[in-house]
Amino acid sequence: MSTASEHKEPTTLPQPGLQFGFSGVNWSDYIKFRPIYPASFFEGIFAYHSQKTKATWTTAHDVGAGCGIVSASLAPHFNNVVVSDPNEGYTTLARKLLVEESRFPSSKLRFLQESAENSSLESGSVDLIAACECIHWTRPDVAIKAFARELRPGGTLMISLYTRPYIVNNDRAHRAWKALFGFYADQVKSPLLDHAVRILNSGTESWGFPEEDWESVKRVYLNAEGTLDTFKMNGLAAESQVKEGEEIVWEENVEDWMDEQDVEWFKGYAATWSKPDVEEDEVKPLWDELEQALGERRLELLHRLL
Ligand SMILES: C[S@@+](CC[C@H](N)C(=O)[O-])C[C@H]1O[C@@H](n2cnc3c(N)ncnc32)[C@H](O)[C@@H]1O
Repeated sequence: MSTASEHKEPTTLPQPGLQFGFSGVNWSDYIKFRPIYPASFFEGIFAYHSQKTKATWTTAHDVGAGCGIVSASLAPHFNNVVVSDPNEGYTTLARKLLVEESRFPSSKLRFLQESAENSSLESGSVDLIAACECIHWTRPDVAIKAFARELRPGGTLMISLYTRPYIVNNDRAHRAWKALFGFYADQVKSPLLDHAVRILNSGTESWGFPEEDWESVKRVYLNAEGTLDTFKMNGLAAESQVKEGEEIVWEENVEDWMDEQDVEWFKGYAATWSKPDVEEDEVKPLWDELEQALGERRLELLHRLL
């Protein structure tokens, strides 16, 4: 296991509970440009959960649900799904998409505007928690404690991040894309973004699972090229919380998490990320370099899933 070594600082937000990341997102662009969770992603989670002798399928909780993308895949498998998100308006949009557009029965869904850390759910009431693409906006130690409280004995917690895609088979484009994210990461000034970058840079290592609460901890890295270095945007890091006895799995060449895209997609994708404000003329040469590296071709890329 590699450990993050540079600039270690505690991942504590300055104003716990008062400030939430990823506000004001354009969800139409998010749906258009973010990777689509493949069916195999959910099949793997459900297969893991169903192996457990005490597994039940009553209630799932989609944490940091945003517009409810993950809830739509949980709903067919559970009697009830709790769709929670702390940012203003997100669960309203999720309700619209899930109930009005996708026609899931509203009796099955419960929408809560609240954070992972301050969940109002009853203790021991949830079978499966899915916290997808949101853990870097939480205080993971507090959120994971809340998850342990919510879950029934034998329940399953799945935390995932696909982070930024990794370009393969074009070294120049790979370097240009890496330079772009490195540039943005180095411009970070807000404590909240700094906190998020440290978590993203550290793979799953900043997520701690206390032995008194958790068993069978499995950290799965897909298409990460066998190293946590592929996650690092810059030198910011978080303390490793990995413990002996946890299972670490590296799976490479996972086709469901591979894609091919052009530079317009990369621009659209980058626009869906929360980034520091930078001067247009500072970042333009970096985009120009990516565009030139790409030429007329589409770039093969690996989405790296944790
Ligand atoms: C990138 S979106 C993820 C949406 C969806 N889960 C997905 O996988 O596409 C991140 C979400 O985390 C939410 N979020 C921010 N702070 C949070 C917190 N403290 N607890 C739970 N969710 C939070 C944001 O409001 C946003 O909807």
